[in-house]
Amino acid sequence: MKKTLLPIMLSVIGASGNALANDGPVHDSDEGWSCEYRANNTPWRLMRCVTANGVVQHLNVLQAIADANNGTRVSGSNGYTQSVQYIAHKMSAAGYKVELNPFSFRQFKKLGPATLKQTSPRGDVYEEDKDFRVMSHSDGGDETALVTAVDLDLGPDNKSSSGCEADDFVGFPQGHVALIQRGSCSFQQKAENAANAGAVGAIIFNQGNSDDRKGLMSGTLSSDYSGGIPVFFATYDKGVSWADTSGLTLNMSVKVDRTETTTYNVIAESRLGNPNNVVMVGAHLDSVDDGPGINDNGSGSAAILEVALKMKRVMPKNKLRFAWWGAEEFGLIGSTKYVESLSDAEKDKIALYLNFDMVGSPNYKLGVYDGDGSEFGLKGPKGSDAIEALFNLYFNMQGTQSTPSEISFRSDYAAFFNAGIPFGGLFTGAEGVKTEAQAKLYGGKAGEPFDPCYHAACDTTDNISKAALEINADAIGLSTLWYAFSTESVNGGEATSEDQPERALRRSLTDETAKPKLEPERLGHMWLK
Ligand code: BES
Ligand code: ZN
Repeated sequence: MKKTLLPIMLSVIGASGNALANDGPVHDSDEGWSCEYRANNTPWRLMRCVTANGVVQHLNVLQAIADANNGTRVSGSNGYTQSVQYIAHKMSAAGYKVELNPFSFRQFKKLGPATLKQTSPRGDVYEEDKDFRVMSHSDGGDETALVTAVDLDLGPDNKSSSGCEADDFVGFPQGHVALIQRGSCSFQQKAENAANAGAVGAIIFNQGNSDDRKGLMSGTLSSDYSGGIPVFFATYDKGVSWADTSGLTLNMSVKVDRTETTTYNVIAESRLGNPNNVVMVGAHLDSVDDGPGINDNGSGSAAILEVALKMKRVMPKNKLRFAWWGAEEFGLIGSTKYVESLSDAEKDKIALYLNFDMVGSPNYKLGVYDGDGSEFGLKGPKGSDAIEALFNLYFNMQGTQSTPSEISFRSDYAAFFNAGIPFGGLFTGAEGVKTEAQAKLYGGKAGEPFDPCYHAACDTTDNISKAALEINADAIGLSTLWYAFSTESVNGGEATSEDQPERALRRSLTDETAKPKLEPERLGHMWLK
């Protein structure tokens, strides 16, 4: 970091009675010793002690855990349990009060490759991951059946609502495979309508009304899918060719495991600090089944761990509560269950939530959630704008610039958003592609994904930018420390819905009894349209 800029930064953000002060640089030779034994209670001290090397040490442990457990740390696996043990052990040894918070969720795992074949009129064999893909939470099956198309609307200007209404299936022949087009409602709704109409399998092909709706995607039903039939996703071109083939018979075959499984969140609190004004800092600890999840999200998990460890002697004014979420990759399950488990009074005590999911992408951008909605239109709960501003200020002080990151409900802040709790956080990019402007700002390669190994087996310790970790781990340290001493800029100093009518209102909108809750539409690309 650029040391000379900190005093300026502190005078800009430090106006409102914050207890932090700038204590100047620490002599290098003291660093190892002092980082371990002193209270790192100023931004200076903390940022000197939180380093990319420190974060990488934890990443190496997570990698070793994955290596010893079939290359994965997916929730429900041994690799996940050992990740939980590592975090819990480190946090308790540092003096935090650690709890494991068990919950159950429905796993989804494809057992071996799936196949899709034409048995009539020709014998074409289709290629998994090129022509088709099994949708997450599909049921298994091995079905050979005639194919019947359901209310298709082909062509470039189509407004497909294929399979969205039970009416679309009037006259659907029992025992056929339903050929359905993407568009207008969730994949799950289409698949369940097909199953209710007596289909033995469903193929949902891409909509074809724009370039980004032609190819293959990794779509998902949700964990409560109960159709009982296999559901595949296919490309638009394949869908059209099947729709044009009379007398078409296909064989769909896949085996899956959807057993109900117990997994854990790790919750660790500081012993000190006002329990009525809690600062929460979270990251999901689970990986996908396909890989070790070192960037997604070993990076956020290791970074908040390193910050917490280096803060172990800080005496925070507000209670600090660190969370490592389980089963994020199955639909944000751990964080959602956690927030749902809180009473209104407990939710009211949470001042804010900071989320760190993917903070070390190899071809990184420095993304900050767009809390004020200035870039993407959707604002976070009141106070989220101030969190975004703190991060932005930090990056500016480092002589760089952040990029607003869309509130897309693809990570664990979603449940906090829905409870009206102000949130913020960092994101260095996943499958999205870096622009020229971003390459100028951050280096790296324009036209290539931020993380080429997103959700893949190659998401290992080689899939990490240390530069991104260095700057983001400091940002995490600074924001955590800052709010540990005052949340005034976010909530005026106290976390209650009385002071924040918007919070109460949002919460009432997300009550069990009231709609909408976590609507699939809110969850973005995977579920819908
Ligand atoms: N780390 C990603 C979050 C992410 C990815 C945010 C890409 C923005 C862009 C997270 O672990 C993830 O994979 N989320 C799922 C959705 C979740 C509800 C299962 C996703 O985005 O596919
Ligand atoms: Zn992920």
